Amino acid sequence: MAVRDVLRMGHPVLRERAKPVEQFGTPELRALLQDMQDTMAHKNGAGLAAPQIGVSQRIVIFGVDHNPRYPDAEEVPFTVLVNPKITMLTRDVEEDWEGCLSVPGMRGIVPRYTKLRYSGFDIEGNPIERVADGFHARVVQHECDHLDGILYPQRMTDLSRFGFIEEMFPGEEIRDD
Ligand code: NI
Repeated sequence: MAVRDVLRMGHPVLRERAKPVEQFGTPELRALLQDMQDTMAHKNGAGLAAPQIGVSQRIVIFGVDHNPRYPDAEEVPFTVLVNPKITMLTRDVEEDWEGCLSVPGMRGIVPRYTKLRYSGFDIEGNPIERVADGFHARVVQHECDHLDGILYPQRMTDLSRFGFIEEMFPGEEIRDD
């Protein structure tokens, strides 16, 4: 198990456009994926992009299990997505709170498209294609933004709804990602 340090907003790697993966199924890629999974699990994150651990490649992972502490949170199947492509399937946008392991302790209201199709590959190069809506679609947009050097505060339209969890939601247990 290798939990890696997560880079925080301001680190130059988080602003880069990450490079496509060209070789699938290599030992290096499998080791990187394992580190990403270990890091996401350790931080109890909903998703993680390779640039967040300093690797500027187009790889994201995400997934949310049912958690009795957050009974309203929608489940998202655990997914590894390499070289993702997103097609928006609506112009409808919904606002909701987001956090990010690279912006620890904070939350902001972010508008996101409500329905999309995503495609890409798993770590072995098998194709993946899915339609997602709601929270699942939000997570995909957030994680894929990381591959283009975009963090969620850059998607916000009202910075008065951006702040520290402890100040905005005192006494509530909220995941720090
Ligand atoms: Ni993030």
